[in-house]
Amino acid sequence: MFPRGREIVLGVAGSISAYKSCELLRHLQDQGFLITVVPTRASLKFVGVATWEALSHRAVADDLWNNVQEVPHVALGKKADVVVIAPATADLIARIAQGRADDLLTNIVLTATCPIIIVPAMHTEMWLNEATKQNVKTLRSRGFIVIDPEVGKLTGEDVGAGRYPKSKVIVQATQDALKSKADYLGKKVLISAGGTRESIDPVRYIGNRSSGKQGYALAYAAAKRGAEVTLIAANADLADIEGVKIIHVETAKQMQEVLVREFEDTDMVIMSAAVADVRPENPVSEKISKGGLKEIKVLPNDDILKALSTKKKNQVLVGFAAQTGSDGLNQAKDKLRAKGLDLLYFNDVTKTKIFGSDETEGILLDSNGGERKISRISKVTLADKILDLALHKLS
Ligand code: CTP
Repeated sequence: MFPRGREIVLGVAGSISAYKSCELLRHLQDQGFLITVVPTRASLKFVGVATWEALSHRAVADDLWNNVQEVPHVALGKKADVVVIAPATADLIARIAQGRADDLLTNIVLTATCPIIIVPAMHTEMWLNEATKQNVKTLRSRGFIVIDPEVGKLTGEDVGAGRYPKSKVIVQATQDALKSKADYLGKKVLISAGGTRESIDPVRYIGNRSSGKQGYALAYAAAKRGAEVTLIAANADLADIEGVKIIHVETAKQMQEVLVREFEDTDMVIMSAAVADVRPENPVSEKISKGGLKEIKVLPNDDILKALSTKKKNQVLVGFAAQTGSDGLNQAKDKLRAKGLDLLYFNDVTKTKIFGSDETEGILLDSNGGERKISRISKVTLADKILDLALHKLS
């Protein structure tokens, strides 16, 4: 399944049905979701931190006052593609409806801009209480997705409305929530991916380590949001994406030709491809023997983004910069300016593994001087964050 790695914050409140969220977590993982569990204090009386850490393979965040330097409530709220709160108690629903921020989970709810799914589970009397009903109405009117509980056997002798729904209902709601964003409808987006190759002879080339995963993740995310996407893929060994027009190229020159041809009626260009800066002056059709490989004369390739920025009307231009060394950030800022870009994603490829990985970390630079640190997330989640900012620029 492509692509894996949508981020979910799974909030768990203090209901006996908290144990059912262990199974829910597994089912969400089966769909490729990556999950950070945020239990409330009361819920830990039912299911403990060790269980959540073992199941999610991640540290559990249960306290606003741990790792304060990382500002966890903001980081988790921004990182999430969907927040699922299951089970949600009457008390938690009331606190969210009031906009309170008295624990980590309610802080996350206030900072998240993604869809939030609430899965109430409680006794029938509490569910039908006028206060709860009003709170649920308030949440729905604010865009929260509240799943109605099932009718059935509750804790003790009770039978009625309030039962935790089946996992598959929650998984489906999560998938639907991701699909519902169609803010790129009517927009044309050109995305480059992979690494260009410049032929030396039939066997050798000048190339780079780019896998194409970030560009494919961008194409997938933009298409999901309704964009008409053309992906110019250079030497990426990845599966086609439904609904995306893919043009395969090998060299920088071929990539430039396609981009220039398609540029005029495009709204946005995202250059995630690593483009070779030079090409051999005299590529040959016979293999060069090792004795002839002492020197390869090269010619410079055009800077594609720079060339596009001179033709730019209203198009938004987004670049990438994989740097090394202590001056990497400054070099990335220079590129943003020199290439006339609206946004640039910078990462330091010596610090952590980025090439070939499904995850990334770096800094998103804005032409208005803004800098947004991106802590390790999936490349698809980064794609959505870039698309959010780029759409803002477009309008
Ligand atoms: N890029 C481009 N055309 C090129 C080289 C790069 O459009 N000939 C784009 C890349 O796709 C990327 C951005 O410019 O979005 C930065 O690429 P990078 O290779 O870091 O920049 P260079 O200008 O080649 O700088 P360096 O001297 O560090 O190689």
